Amino acid sequence: MSLDDYKIIDHEYDVVIVGAGGAGLRATLGMATAGLSTACITKVFPTRSHTVAAQGGMSAALANMGEDNWKWHMYDTVKGSDWLGDQDAIEYMCREAVPSVIELEHFGVPFSRTEEGKIYQRPFGGMTTNYGEGTAQRTCAAADRTGHAILHTLYQQSLKHKAEFFIEYFATDLIMDDGVCRGVMAWDLATGDLHRFRGHEVVLATGGSGRTFFSATSAHTCTGDGNAMVLRAGLPLQDMEFVQFHPTGVYGAGVLITEGVRGEGGYLTNSEGERFMERYAPNAKDLASRDVVSRAMTKEINAGRGVGPDKDHLFLNLQHLGPEVINERLPGIAESARIFSGVDVSKDPIPVLPTVHYNMGGIPTNYRGEVVTIKGDDPDAVVPGLMAIGEAACVSVHGANRLGSNSLLDIVVFGRAAAIRAAEIIKPNTPHKQLDESIFNKLLEHFDKIRYADGGTPTAVIRDKMQRTMQKHAAVFRTGETLQEGVNLMKEVYASFADVGVSDRSMQWNTDLVETLELENLLIQAQTIMAGANNREESRGGHAREDFTERDDENWMKHTLAWVDDKGEVRFDYRPVHMYTLSDDCDVIPPAKRVY
Ligand code: FUM
Repeated sequence: MSLDDYKIIDHEYDVVIVGAGGAGLRATLGMATAGLSTACITKVFPTRSHTVAAQGGMSAALANMGEDNWKWHMYDTVKGSDWLGDQDAIEYMCREAVPSVIELEHFGVPFSRTEEGKIYQRPFGGMTTNYGEGTAQRTCAAADRTGHAILHTLYQQSLKHKAEFFIEYFATDLIMDDGVCRGVMAWDLATGDLHRFRGHEVVLATGGSGRTFFSATSAHTCTGDGNAMVLRAGLPLQDMEFVQFHPTGVYGAGVLITEGVRGEGGYLTNSEGERFMERYAPNAKDLASRDVVSRAMTKEINAGRGVGPDKDHLFLNLQHLGPEVINERLPGIAESARIFSGVDVSKDPIPVLPTVHYNMGGIPTNYRGEVVTIKGDDPDAVVPGLMAIGEAACVSVHGANRLGSNSLLDIVVFGRAAAIRAAEIIKPNTPHKQLDESIFNKLLEHFDKIRYADGGTPTAVIRDKMQRTMQKHAAVFRTGETLQEGVNLMKEVYASFADVGVSDRSMQWNTDLVETLELENLLIQAQTIMAGANNREESRGGHAREDFTERDDENWMKHTLAWVDDKGEVRFDYRPVHMYTLSDDCDVIPPAKRVY
């Protein structure tokens, strides 16, 4: 078959959003409302995007259930990030949290309510009042199905505002022209046609790459397709070594049990029935930030105090909360625990284990959603025509460790910010530049090569090797030795993709080809995670090195940028952390030692 045989359908929009999770939909809605012609391309039906799995809630200092202030939220987020977060972006996020959640309420999100009818807010890890003194109730919740509620509302609003959706389209590559992003190529899974979408801004809202690991709370669709497209376009990813382990994935299944359980009064115990978090974090206890709780759990298991026949997990107790709290505030996790671990949470504890949950790293952006890279002396140079938001992006508001419930916040605030920025810089219906056909032929060749891959190794075999290697070598605790071994093994796994075999050559509903394209995307990101973890010789946030146990601000208070070449070799450079704020409203936050 020659490249000319591919049927290609052309589209021109002001903006093209890739991904229809919370970030993609909030951007889609904002851009459509601003009068920009808006296309949203998504590989799954919008309401099946991974945001649907977000349980516990969205942080915002509304002060509905006690004193609160966005500056305290900002302080917690900077501290939670282990001082790797950019403070201008964190100020923007925490300040804009309040109007953003009120907007959601007005769009129709069915939040749980207090007795007085205000939005219900629960405590979450690391969220404090008065700069660490008390516990904040800051996480706005719709029972334990907050992501589900937000996703459905934003999709309905986007339809109302006439955004156009291209559903079950797989985005394959960015259309780049001399450093400027001009659009994106996509494959319609149902008809088999290829589509060329032109946009003055392409917004990547493609989520994280949790599926580089074996056990993750992430959906199987979380393959970081946008991040891989960015690497293939010769642009870097940032801080990929920082991977968050959520303390409470269901043992064996990996399914999320929300931190909201501990927010409502649940607690962890070991084989001796001890509430061990009291030893590791005497103040915050079970509501210490996730990096701290995950490390404490791993230490308990390593010390032989795990539960179960293999002493390899721990218990999460919520029996004492009573049916009223469970039915009203935590109905979803009661069902998950029953289905995935056979436990009736009103009688027995849930078996849990730290499980890969979130990529703090991603596509570097500024707080307006514009993708940035290093150009000459400028570490913040904007890549024209390209934006990234949500878990795909590294703004960086989470730095080395994200606080629970700051993710739903991030997707809504920065989806909105990208729309505000796009409306500032794009004049509706501006004509698109004519492009050389050679640009498209190169992208088609890439697609065609994988479609006709005839090697002897099945996709599933390579994926399994990658996931097991990542799980073992880029774990909660890391050492130089195991990481170096991981880097070597991942090089072999990466190289083995040259022998991948796709057995189905058809263009319609070819899940074999979808999975192989996704695997290619995962493999390139796995290189940046493993090599990045080996490269960063300190412990900070979610990155805990047993051979470099301290945070090293002198050498490592900087963002890692990673590029990957055709052979899978990773090259690093660095961007400074933004230690400045947008306004004078913020109290100075010194890089102090964390105390729990
Ligand atoms: O535990 C949870 O409900 C997860 C929330 C989050 O990752 O922000």
